[in-house]
Amino acid sequence: MNPFEVHIPTHIFYGKEKDGLFFDKLAELGNHALLVIGGGSVKRAGYLDEVTSQLNAHHITYTLFEGIEPNPHAQTIDKAAVLGKAKGVDFVLALGGGSVMDASKGIAGLIHDDEKEIWPFVLGEPKHKTMKGAIPIATIPTTAATASEVTAYAVISNVEVNGKSPIGYSFFKPAASWLNPSYHTSIPLETTRDGASDILSHVFENYILGGNDSPLADRYSEGVMQTVLDTMPLVEKDPGNEALRGQLMWASTLALNTIQIAGRKPSVFIMHNLEHALSGFNPDLAHGRGLAILYPAYFKWMVQNGRAVDRFALLGEKLFGIQSSDEKKGAYEFIETFENWLRDNGLYQRLSDVNIPENAFGEIADYAIKVYGSGSPLNAIGKLDKEGIVTIFKMTEDQK
Ligand code: NZQ
Ligand code: ZN
Repeated sequence: MNPFEVHIPTHIFYGKEKDGLFFDKLAELGNHALLVIGGGSVKRAGYLDEVTSQLNAHHITYTLFEGIEPNPHAQTIDKAAVLGKAKGVDFVLALGGGSVMDASKGIAGLIHDDEKEIWPFVLGEPKHKTMKGAIPIATIPTTAATASEVTAYAVISNVEVNGKSPIGYSFFKPAASWLNPSYHTSIPLETTRDGASDILSHVFENYILGGNDSPLADRYSEGVMQTVLDTMPLVEKDPGNEALRGQLMWASTLALNTIQIAGRKPSVFIMHNLEHALSGFNPDLAHGRGLAILYPAYFKWMVQNGRAVDRFALLGEKLFGIQSSDEKKGAYEFIETFENWLRDNGLYQRLSDVNIPENAFGEIADYAIKVYGSGSPLNAIGKLDKEGIVTIFKMTEDQK
């Protein structure tokens, strides 16, 4: 095994029955929360009323900030931070999906550092300012997708420059997160599918590039993947089933808490690097959807170039029972079987289907290389340069 660190400071509460304990925990963070929500789904579903009643019952005052967009905009985060600072809030409570949770991390950092703009802090920006800290963050995730409820990351979009880029600090890890599956039954199926794609990617990425040094990380990751592969089709048939929703939700948290890669070789999140550049170009593209479009093309490009062939074959064996004496054949069989799963689960598309035209591929590849390679090719067990990225983007057009 390779050396690693695991640091998960988040107090996780799972289940609707844990509401009292979660809000007791929030009372330890302070008595005034900036309560951050998105475009209104949590209002319509009644979750906001439940949460504000609990805050009142626990004598926690709150200031509401509403209107965080999917792929959260830097400028909206700036506005929320001004409000939170003016009101003197003690902590930020995110009630929403990954976009609301990520925005809340940015807001908590700006309030702590008394800064006005989040964008100069993102990776790849010329100034790339360093953040000093954040006021405490707590989350109530309403999607099963990003694991932002435990991660150190916030991914920020800037529609003014067609940009999307992460910020990562240990102090962004939430102090407490309440995983309540009853808040997931309202997630539209399209968003549920996008989320399933995102969960899978978090375990796929390093499984593919991280080598064979940690069989335990492999078995753990396969468990998360198998759960998503099995559960997503069941949720399609029974979207209101809280037990199924809970399986996806917990799989999501477990997929990106760093235990999934422990002991493997560290590696870059290639599909994420490419996808963030894609949804930066088109802010209406959901992150998980962008990843779903990239999977077949990226996987095929890797195998065609002789990279991680053994790992793809192993995935085929472990996830789908594919037995093949020829590794390359096994790898391709895995890709085909997974491609069928994407097709069966409404996740099989092309970049042109999501308004990303071929004449933009070069510009998007340049952005990924600028932000994630500091101007040099990315590292996917060997170089992945602009030409390779454009080839992968073009290969998605075969997905019909
Ligand atoms: O805005 P509202 O009205 O709340 O509607 C949202 C939004 O339209 C809706 N929604 C959320 N929960 C719902 C619901 N609708 C009905 N019922 C519910 N319970 O779903 C839509 C999408 O929400 P969003 O938060 O954008 O989706 P997701 O959770 O997939 O988050 C995506 C963002 O997270 C970033 C992505 O890049 C993207 O910006 N990521 C963050 C990561 C992290 N912090 O570590 C890692 C990930 O890899 C990812 O990059
Ligand atoms: Zn992701």
